[in-house]
Amino acid sequence: MFHTQLCDILGIRYPIIQGALGGISGGPQLAAAVSNAGGLGVLASFNLTDKQLREEIARTRSLTDRPFGLNIFAVNAAFVKRVAKVIVEEGVTIVTTGRGDPRQPVVALLKEHGITVLPVVPTVRHAVRMEAEGADAVIASGTEAGGHVGTVCSLPLIPQVVDAVSIPVVAAGGIGDARGLVAALALGACGVQLGTRFLATHESGATLPQKRRILEATEEDTMPTPIFSGKNVRVIRSPELEEWVRMQRGGAAPQELEALASQIRQGRRDSPGVNTTAGQIVGMIKDIESAGDLVGKMIDEATLICQRLNSLAGPG
Ligand SMILES: Cc1cc2nc3c(=O)[nH]c(=O)nc-3n(C[C@H](O)[C@H](O)[C@H](O)COP(=O)(O)O)c2cc1C
Repeated sequence: MFHTQLCDILGIRYPIIQGALGGISGGPQLAAAVSNAGGLGVLASFNLTDKQLREEIARTRSLTDRPFGLNIFAVNAAFVKRVAKVIVEEGVTIVTTGRGDPRQPVVALLKEHGITVLPVVPTVRHAVRMEAEGADAVIASGTEAGGHVGTVCSLPLIPQVVDAVSIPVVAAGGIGDARGLVAALALGACGVQLGTRFLATHESGATLPQKRRILEATEEDTMPTPIFSGKNVRVIRSPELEEWVRMQRGGAAPQELEALASQIRQGRRDSPGVNTTAGQIVGMIKDIESAGDLVGKMIDEATLICQRLNSLAGPG
């Protein structure tokens, strides 16, 4: 029932992708659990050395014989070149590319090696450009998402991207269960990518304080902030982050803003759980589940939702 074009492109059973979770350990366990359940697990490359990356790929292969992907967050040309070399040498066949420096010709570089490439896009403009560069599909990600975000919400973004490109569109940002999957399919997407929901699983290497923050947070508790990477990243809010925003709005000097930002970054390193990266869907997460169960449950519940919708649409 949920076999879409995305399943054919990626060689997977269900159109569910686990978005890369940079900076979170346990990538192979999580990716393999999702792939074994019929979705597509994706490893992050952010902050990993070549050796670590090769080890993560090998470990994932030891845990699953199903397809999985690797993510390049295009920080700069040197990083892209280094990770692309590992991808090609290790025979990785599916790559998602995160937001980053849009001038990096990541898609063309990977397509030269026959790799299936799915870039994350925050706007229609970006999606059209990625299609022109040869992307196999795009992942349209709304501002509700965890991680780096643009400004457009998923609900208006996804159908507009679907209308603008002829390649398949995957929906991301604010999807946490079967309702989000069915809604995304209704908007014209052929699959979904979830990040925040997979962070709160047994297999994810998120620390206990991070998982606790996710279970406690409500839908109002996240905010985008540029202080970690120079571009907006959505994280669970904290009094210090709010103070930084107040200072910025009040016209504080760049040195004052940087002093507080550097204190916040240090605080995050010292106490994992503070300023956890997460999306607005966080308020819906009330328990830690196994990643495989999550995939199975999404498909079962989506089937029931479709049956209900069908009966609504049937002859009255
Ligand atoms: C902790 C965390 C780390 C992330 N790291 C990356 C990354 O390294 N590369 C990337 O392309 N996306 C990254 N993302 C984005 C996710 O892959 C995914 O697209 C996003 O979380 C989807 O929105 P959702 O959080 O509403 O499910 C990250 C998200 C989170 C929550």
